[in-house]
Amino acid sequence: MLELTTTAALILSAIFLFIFLDNKWQKSKNGNSMKLPPGPKPLPIIGNLHQISSPPFRCFTDLSKQYGPIMHLKLGETTAVVVSSPEIAKQMLKDLDPSFADRPQGVAMEIMWYNYSDIAFCPYGDYWRQMRKICVNELLSHRIVRSFQSIRRDEAARLLDSLRESSGSSVNLTERIYSFSSSITSRAAFGGVCRDNEALIKLMMETLTMAGGFEIADLFPSSRIVGALSWTKRRLKTMRWKLDVILDDVIDQHRENLAKLAAAPENRGRRSGNGEFGGEDLVDVFLRVKAEEQLQFPIANHNIKAVLYDMFAGGTETTATTIDWTMVELIRNPRVMDKAQAEVRQALKGSSPDQYDAVIHNLKYLKMVIKESLRLHPPAPMLPRASNKEHVINGYTIPAGERVLVNIWAMQRDPRFWKDPEEFEPERFHNQTVDFIGADFHLLPFGTGRRMCPGMTFALASVELALAQLLYNFDWKLPEGVRVEDLDMIENVGLASSRKHNLFVVATSYNE
Ligand code: HEM
Repeated sequence: MLELTTTAALILSAIFLFIFLDNKWQKSKNGNSMKLPPGPKPLPIIGNLHQISSPPFRCFTDLSKQYGPIMHLKLGETTAVVVSSPEIAKQMLKDLDPSFADRPQGVAMEIMWYNYSDIAFCPYGDYWRQMRKICVNELLSHRIVRSFQSIRRDEAARLLDSLRESSGSSVNLTERIYSFSSSITSRAAFGGVCRDNEALIKLMMETLTMAGGFEIADLFPSSRIVGALSWTKRRLKTMRWKLDVILDDVIDQHRENLAKLAAAPENRGRRSGNGEFGGEDLVDVFLRVKAEEQLQFPIANHNIKAVLYDMFAGGTETTATTIDWTMVELIRNPRVMDKAQAEVRQALKGSSPDQYDAVIHNLKYLKMVIKESLRLHPPAPMLPRASNKEHVINGYTIPAGERVLVNIWAMQRDPRFWKDPEEFEPERFHNQTVDFIGADFHLLPFGTGRRMCPGMTFALASVELALAQLLYNFDWKLPEGVRVEDLDMIENVGLASSRKHNLFVVATSYNE
């Protein structure tokens, strides 16, 4: 036993010595001519890892108060520049947008998104442009989002029915919200709720937790030994296998149905598909363009699976997180809840379900509530970017290939731009033009520039409808014995910042 421990210790020391010498060599190779941004002094081998607590965006916010709005960190073998000010974010993401339009690589993205074959994590370039264009045209444009109105309405009705069944008793609202948003995404993109929807949600949540870039295999990428010993890679490979089974099934079902539809005489001469309204859904479109072979970058099954997983994860997690955080804030702030409910109840009274989208679109206070929720709880708290060219910003060199984390969580709480930044105060947007469409750099929940979120319209349609319906149809309180002060506001670690704990509430049906 003792021999084994000594051997393990010797191997570990050898690994650390190798990494240490390699770091030194890399440093001397790069020379010292670059003036990197300031940052805390790194330790050998681990760099600043000992100073990073969880969740990283909160810790980076604290560190930036000491080291400034552009900060250099050494994270194991890797480095990162953390930006915490709207002014510097603007220089990078507007003035130098193409140079900072790449994404950092990571083991979760490599394995779960088929070697970066998706849109969100693939390198900036023509392949990214091609795939993003198809998704925007076929799923995310204003026109297409509008056409999904009946799907949203249907899923909202299902959510309300499930809450009515448990009216007066404590329910896990978070779980029901996830089911609502995942069903909308699946029905819109895959033409129906996936057979393994629950399994897909579970995989997505685990993937997003591991995709934050702070896994040991991401921090020591060149070390084959760390890679081989890493639990993360083995876990991700098992998850990828499960994902393959689910998404292959979705694609196979589509192929089979398309063959049947093509053989039916009544469909001759028209483009029918698996979409809920008889036309093509996103999977059909990909299968068609794959067969036509006219794309600049031909696509194979793995490209389709990568993009479908993007849409599912992008569409489900962020939307559900936004609805969930907003409900938590409303329950913590009864004054805001009362005001939002009064607006919704007055506006929706007497309207028929097919008028809801138009009525809800004009709910000014609800929109301010959502904006404030996205300010305090951005579902993606740091924009993950990478530079593809060297630039000097504020006198500091940002080398080509550097990982850049734009800490929007810090920027959206910057006291220079926001009065009482920690308060949930929707009225701050009254008579203000500040918006989240990517032009105001102190409010970037959907990002900005070329890599800005293409799913904003899709997401907001679901968020607004769900919140309006929840506020219209129910009164809300915490379960017996739980006080507002007991509601913690801790976030999960990972790429997305959902609330760590599920929200349990009592919904009581409201009768006009
Ligand atoms: C409230 C909901 C949502 C929020 C807050 C959100 C936020 C974001 C953010 C911050 C980014 C990175 C932007 C950047 O780097 O500048 C992003 C990218 C992305 N989002 Fe969303 N998102 C939401 C909903 C959606 C939905 C519904 C979809 C699709 C169905 C989606 C698909 C994507 C994709 C594909 C990207 C990658 C874009 C690229 O790299 O070109 N998102 N999102």
